Amino acid sequence: MLSSRIIGWGHYLPQKIMTNKDLSKIVDTNDEWIISRTGITQRFIAEKKELTSDLAIIAGKKAIKKAGIKSNDIDYIILATTTPDQTFPSTACKVQASLKIGNTPSFDIQAVCSGFIYSLQLADSLIKSNKAKNILVIGAETLSKIVDWDDRRTCVLFGDGAGAVIIKAENTKDQQGILSTNLFSDGSWHDSLYADGGPSLDQKVGKIRMKGQDIFKQAVTKLSESTILSLKDCNKTIQDINWLIPHQANLRIINGTAKRLGISKNKVISTVNSHANTSAASIPLALSTSLDEGKINHGDLIALCAIGGGLTWGSCILRL
Ligand code: UT7
Repeated sequence: MLSSRIIGWGHYLPQKIMTNKDLSKIVDTNDEWIISRTGITQRFIAEKKELTSDLAIIAGKKAIKKAGIKSNDIDYIILATTTPDQTFPSTACKVQASLKIGNTPSFDIQAVCSGFIYSLQLADSLIKSNKAKNILVIGAETLSKIVDWDDRRTCVLFGDGAGAVIIKAENTKDQQGILSTNLFSDGSWHDSLYADGGPSLDQKVGKIRMKGQDIFKQAVTKLSESTILSLKDCNKTIQDINWLIPHQANLRIINGTAKRLGISKNKVISTVNSHANTSAASIPLALSTSLDEGKINHGDLIALCAIGGGLTWGSCILRL
């Protein structure tokens, strides 16, 4: 049986840390409000000259090393981001050049916070249709560059970072690796979470705008419903799951989703306190840091779920 297995992982966080106290010197906010409403205590912030591709390249290099493969063994690069270096070319192409990876197809996926799950489904499909043997999947963001630092409702929520995995085609006795995925979008929500600028709209990049409560209400329902669907698709139940890694947007959303799914809190990975919301990077960052810490292990059954602008949402069940 052909399986799509994660054989390498890596992540990178910028050096600079911004605490809630640091933020309270910029906008009218405070540590107590941010912690109680979001669970966030700090976020990592890229330097002005540090680009999304710089973060992605470091995470990608680490994943390649961990996988024990050569750069030239990679035959696809899929990079999920909402904050590409430029309007074009894709940030994936800049990663390809830096890592000296042949003439492999390289492209960005724009599905905002769901981008990594979207990329996993695509990578799995490419492997199972014999188009690829090793795929580099990256989630990378420098959201600090599109945050409105005068808007306390959004600027406290986001951070920068990158996470990467190598997904390999392997012939296995039982199905391993990615067992099921489900993706969704509902564009009627496009003006609830968006950047108020763009190449065609006004030739600018825009800043993040969000109707926080609307998104909050959608998040818990859609994350849990989608996870249940992916569990059904691979004949598993929530009791089979060793770890739930939800998109890291808000601790209240993470806890609400876990409660709705009926999974105990000690099986839920939460990095939002130190990483904040890193959009497409949030799940691979949480996955990679947990693997490095030895919290998650080979053979564990993992549920991933994400929701973001669009709205887009989805889930994935995989065995490590
Ligand atoms: O990654 C994509 C998905 N995104 C999300 O999942 C985000 C979903 N939304 C959320 O996580 C929450 O809605 C927020 C964290 C954004 C906001 O939390 P909330 O509990 O929904 O707060 P709220 O918007 O209802 O605001 C409550 C109060 C307001 O004051 P009034 O009008 O009640 O006087 C806000 O002005 O809190 C005020 N407020 C703040 N106060 C201090 C809003 N932001 C801040 C702040 N510091 N940073």
